[in-house]
Amino acid sequence: MRKKVTVVGAGNVGASCALRIANKELADVVMVDVMEGVPQGKALDLLESGPVEGYDVSVTGANDYAPTENSDVVVITAGFPRKPGMTRDDLLMANYEIVKSATEGAMKYSPNAIIVVVTNPLDAMCYTAHLVSGFPKHRVVGMAGVLDTARYRTFIAQELNVSMESVSAMVLGGHGDTMVPLVRLTSVSGIPLTELLPQDRIDAIVQRTRDGGAEIVKYLKTGSAFYAPSAATVEMVESILKDKKKVLPCAALLEGEYGVKGLFVGVPCKLGAAGIEKIYEIKLEAAEQKELDRSAAAVQELVDVLKQKTA
Ligand code: NAI
Ligand code: 2OP
Repeated sequence: MRKKVTVVGAGNVGASCALRIANKELADVVMVDVMEGVPQGKALDLLESGPVEGYDVSVTGANDYAPTENSDVVVITAGFPRKPGMTRDDLLMANYEIVKSATEGAMKYSPNAIIVVVTNPLDAMCYTAHLVSGFPKHRVVGMAGVLDTARYRTFIAQELNVSMESVSAMVLGGHGDTMVPLVRLTSVSGIPLTELLPQDRIDAIVQRTRDGGAEIVKYLKTGSAFYAPSAATVEMVESILKDKKKVLPCAALLEGEYGVKGLFVGVPCKLGAAGIEKIYEIKLEAAEQKELDRSAAAVQELVDVLKQKTA
């Protein structure tokens, strides 16, 4: 039987995810959105690309969750995107309500699914989806690290004029200004980055990575990035559906790992058919751990606001 993926939110990120899933023939896709006609219209448009692109998956759209029944993976992209001048944190309460209703709707029909959260502020929305679904922690995972790492790898490849594929790296922490690109473990085909670039260039790349989302918002003016975000999300979905067991930086619920308890924070995870099959706890140097602590504290602040306002 073919796999099935529900994408909640048929906006820029959601529709791009559906397109990429169909192009790769990973699964049948159901898009759900509150906008009447939008998920149906985009789904039909995508379906009609099948004969040209050569894919046979089904792509449908709906305004309710019944058609999503028995999905293997639910990707939540529903929510408001960041606008210029708006921080990810401004989105908190508005997107909390949306992610809550998306989670409730989806879990009712797919109680065994793995939820991949994309909506911002990412780490707090993962916390919301986990709380509302009551799913075990390995079945709720957040997408941010793959995107942040893709940006970091892009900037390094540009600077060195080498293939992006040769750059190996990992960005940990929360999806915000405090994210933690691990410079010490960044390499180009095994050559440490620190041997290839002076510190001031590395610092500039790290800062550009941290500002990567805002850089796109500044250009687009009316929305945020969606091509790289959907590519990153679908890499995670593919690893789950095909049980590839890729090791990717994902937002996972930590219960003591890296000294963090009860929060979703980006860490290296093995993603397979069961969802998060392993969290890798790598030994950080003191300065790196300090940065991760700072990033976790920023996530904690948001979760505290959520807890207060929803008590
Ligand atoms: P968009 O505005 O293009 O699409 C959002 C869609 O959600 C809209 O079609 C809207 O009608 C729908 N929606 C709103 N309330 C809903 C509900 N209750 N149920 C179902 N659908 C609902 O926004 P875009 O660009 O697709 O971004 C979506 C979210 O993803 C934003 O929160 C954005 O900040 C986040 N994002 C996160 C990234 C990450 O790295 N984690 C990267 C890029 C975007
Ligand atoms: C991004 O990093 C807005 O979180 C989104 O592009």
